[in-house]
Amino acid sequence: MAIAELAGKHLVLGMTGGIACYKIAELTRLLTKAGATVQVAMTEAATQFITPVTMQALSGRPVYTSQWDGRIDNNMAHIDLSREADAIVIAPASADFLAKLAHGMADDLLSTLCLARDCPLLVVPAMNRQMWTNPATQRNVAQLRADGVLVLGPDSGVQACGETGDGRMLEPQASYEAIVSFFQPKVLSGRCVLITAGPTFEPIDPVRGITNRSSGKMGFALARAAQQAGADVRLIAGPVSLPTPWGVAREDVETALQMYDAVVQRAQDCDVFISVAAVADWRVDRASEEKIKKTAHGGVPSLSFVENPDILATVARLTNPPYCVGFAAESGELVVHGAEKRARKQVPLLIGNLGPKTFGRDDNEVVLFDAQGLTRLPRMDKDTLAATLVREIARRLPDTSLIS
Ligand code: CTP
Repeated sequence: MAIAELAGKHLVLGMTGGIACYKIAELTRLLTKAGATVQVAMTEAATQFITPVTMQALSGRPVYTSQWDGRIDNNMAHIDLSREADAIVIAPASADFLAKLAHGMADDLLSTLCLARDCPLLVVPAMNRQMWTNPATQRNVAQLRADGVLVLGPDSGVQACGETGDGRMLEPQASYEAIVSFFQPKVLSGRCVLITAGPTFEPIDPVRGITNRSSGKMGFALARAAQQAGADVRLIAGPVSLPTPWGVAREDVETALQMYDAVVQRAQDCDVFISVAAVADWRVDRASEEKIKKTAHGGVPSLSFVENPDILATVARLTNPPYCVGFAAESGELVVHGAEKRARKQVPLLIGNLGPKTFGRDDNEVVLFDAQGLTRLPRMDKDTLAATLVREIARRLPDTSLIS
């Protein structure tokens, strides 16, 4: 999570009755930690599952449950609470509340507040699978979508009632990611973005291998930022222990050859290829199928290497290549090596940094090399940098609407 990525945002968080109310405690913590102000409003049913006192402590603001609440001077809580909001988020959104919204009903504070809103409305449904698939609920959801309401989820899986199916509320982290995503400019809308990330692992034998110190953090941050910018993102990851960014399709690989195959298979269907992975330049020639025993060579074994294919250069030389972005981690003379590498790989954009110093860190400082020369960006945390790079890439893309 970037530092204060929701700073300045004001959210009304509407809670309706459902066991998923417990997830909203964590969601509120995530939203406030990211700098948002969160005004909680609860239906009477929601207060049966979690207390307003808990929600007040977590949001740091008084919680409203009734349209007759005397704390608002003009007694117009339904108007006042939503006027300064950038969005209303209903989580959990029960089947009953979705039905009310779809029909424009306004018989309590939260439904009145939604009907009187002049800001976007997001709903995060949570209910039993039969309630979700019931044609009445599906009709209501279709109506809400047609009315411009953003429906987040639901998830599929084991439910509080013991049944399994669609209807679970998105987990707090996924709900948080979807809300952050909602606020990002959709500069990559309609684009397919392929990203490689992390190191590769080249086996010596079944238990040993050669890898490098890439953490994968920059590539994963770019995948998250591209998804939030509206792209359809495919992430090919080497061995890393990072969670998959929300909404991103991920494939795990180990070796450079596996990464090569996975990329070549998809590259032609994508608009952008961002090659962040630290791909091993060489692999061990004829890795042993059995564990090499210490005593087998009468001493230290010697390894010979063969060169791995250059994935980025291969994609850049396709007949109709996607827009290719390379990364270069240099240990010195970044300006010289960056420009040379961009030309050698024949990519329109190369992002360089003094790599070994940034491996595993949460921030990064990069230089952009393109046909116009170089641009230095200030040091930023990797999520903020990823969002900046996504904007830099988006503004360099050919406008597909001009291509017949
Ligand atoms: N790359 C790749 N396939 C390889 C090696 C590198 O796709 N076999 C990509 C990386 O993902 C990165 C760019 O090429 O986007 C530059 O990687 P780097 O290792 O810095 O370049 P090399 O060509 O290996 O040069 P060096 O001699 O500096 O290692």
